[in-house]
Amino acid sequence: MNLIVNYNGKREKIEFKKQKNLLEIFQENNINISAPCGGNGTCGKCKVKLLSKKSNVTKKEKNLLSNKEIKKGVRLACVTKAKNNMEVELNKDQELEIMDYSIERNIDLDPLINKSNIKIEKPTLENQKDYLSRIYKKSDTIKTNYSLIKSFPENIDEFNEITLFTKNEKLIDIKYNKNTKNYYGISIDIGTTTVVLYLINLETGEKKDVYSFKNPQQKYGADVISRVNHTIEKENGIEDIQDVLIKKINYALKKLINKNNLKANNIYQCVIVGNTIMLHTLLGVSAESITKSPFTPIFTNSVELKASNFDININKNGIIKLLPSVSGYIGADILADMLTISQINDNNKWSLLIDIGTNGEIVLDNGENAYACSTAAGPALEGANISFGMAGIPGAISEYKITEDNQINYSTIRDRKAKGICGSGLIDIIAELYDKDYLDKNGGFKKDLDENKKDRITEYKNFTSYKVIDNNDSENSDIFLTQKDIREIQLAKGAIEAGIKVLIQEADISYEDIEVVYLAGGFGNYLKPESACTIGLIPYQLENKIERIGNGAGMGAILSLLNDNMFDLIQNLKNRINYIELSSKKDFQEKFMNSMYFGKIS
Ligand code: FES
Repeated sequence: MNLIVNYNGKREKIEFKKQKNLLEIFQENNINISAPCGGNGTCGKCKVKLLSKKSNVTKKEKNLLSNKEIKKGVRLACVTKAKNNMEVELNKDQELEIMDYSIERNIDLDPLINKSNIKIEKPTLENQKDYLSRIYKKSDTIKTNYSLIKSFPENIDEFNEITLFTKNEKLIDIKYNKNTKNYYGISIDIGTTTVVLYLINLETGEKKDVYSFKNPQQKYGADVISRVNHTIEKENGIEDIQDVLIKKINYALKKLINKNNLKANNIYQCVIVGNTIMLHTLLGVSAESITKSPFTPIFTNSVELKASNFDININKNGIIKLLPSVSGYIGADILADMLTISQINDNNKWSLLIDIGTNGEIVLDNGENAYACSTAAGPALEGANISFGMAGIPGAISEYKITEDNQINYSTIRDRKAKGICGSGLIDIIAELYDKDYLDKNGGFKKDLDENKKDRITEYKNFTSYKVIDNNDSENSDIFLTQKDIREIQLAKGAIEAGIKVLIQEADISYEDIEVVYLAGGFGNYLKPESACTIGLIPYQLENKIERIGNGAGMGAILSLLNDNMFDLIQNLKNRINYIELSSKKDFQEKFMNSMYFGKIS
């Protein structure tokens, strides 16, 4: 049977055998489509347009699609059975605004792999010492690998100077050209939603280039649990999510290498950070145990791999290192954030780190003791499970203001026509609705609204809703924020606020003792502190202490690439963390319920 798929300007014929739904066929054929709920038919984001062979509308589609969309032939890929000769059209791959900015830090250069130039004396009858021993002596090395010995040129005497690459006492590569300037490393930050690669010159420490992309594992679900479920339910599930990630990393590497006139052989080291589940999936290790109580990972220690034993395409004599993690839900990315902060804050006062992504990780640290927890903030803050929610792509409403005379001002990413709302926009809208008396403390729409406010309150998909903007201003239709959407955000913000309260209680301190709050990650970077504090995502007592560090995890990976001693420092950071499992805290549930309220609650 054949399916014809139109996407990204291509028209592709795909053969399929068994009766499958469209999403399964797309996943098997590496066609990217957003599927935040992992194909459960609950998020409504896997939209496709049927160009032929109309399909009956299911109950799920009636709930998740507008009448206008249904009439146009839009359906959900995960509930639509593929039929022979069916033709479908997918939205273009959306460009995501990826946070690759970070505060900059300088550090002494001391990478794991060192480069040096030496001259080798020509042998004589009096001194017949072998070439390799001469090189060992000059470079303080004592061993090498077979492929290097095999590659010694016969005319080695003709080279006056050679360039050595060494890792501690091991000689790992020799270049015989005089001018071997190209000595680079790669730092990779693997997030659940986005992946960022930094190309670093290991000779100068310069950040030469950056490449970022959406994590391609998203076609198996927006959240880590859906992806792990794929590995449990499908025969080659672990390989599926490993392969798709490694292939895209290699594609990105190739782009960076070509753009900068380099070769894969010029990349000697790669340092990788990510949350614990991402690092398991990268290595093709089952993460199932992390998703079930007591949430135990297979590994948390730093991992060092020979590039020749792994599929990331750098110099085969190079080294790939993963930073350590703390627990199933406090990963290497958070330790990398802490490393970045440790380079700017050494005054041993309490600091609070909040990194909000698909989970919300929080660390309270005073340089001697640290308390960390992970909250199930859920993907709501990234726009999933929200009627008009979307990732930070062009056209997403990112800022929103209601004026005193009830007019609205808003901006979208890249000033495109509005298509939906991203996380920072959601927080802004809800903060404004609360501030302008549309919502009560419980998050419910007020019944006794002023007449001039009632215009914007209506019903959408059976929920009382606020009309964020009307269809004249949007690309498709009116954009609403429903009562259910507000509840989703309340759950996420309640989890983070309660997490902060638990850590403060564990450390036995008060808000006044916290000197600075570091917001890390893309969401934190766009979040307005006043909106976050208005709805209580961050306690209002901390509003004036907030600093943004951008992609602190990416910077931590860069620092660890530039100076291998950072791995010891990170191990120390790891050792001082007391990991608090919130579900084991008796009063967490009570704190969580109290944190669902909006406004200035202590
Ligand atoms: S509704 Fe199809 S993936 Fe969520």
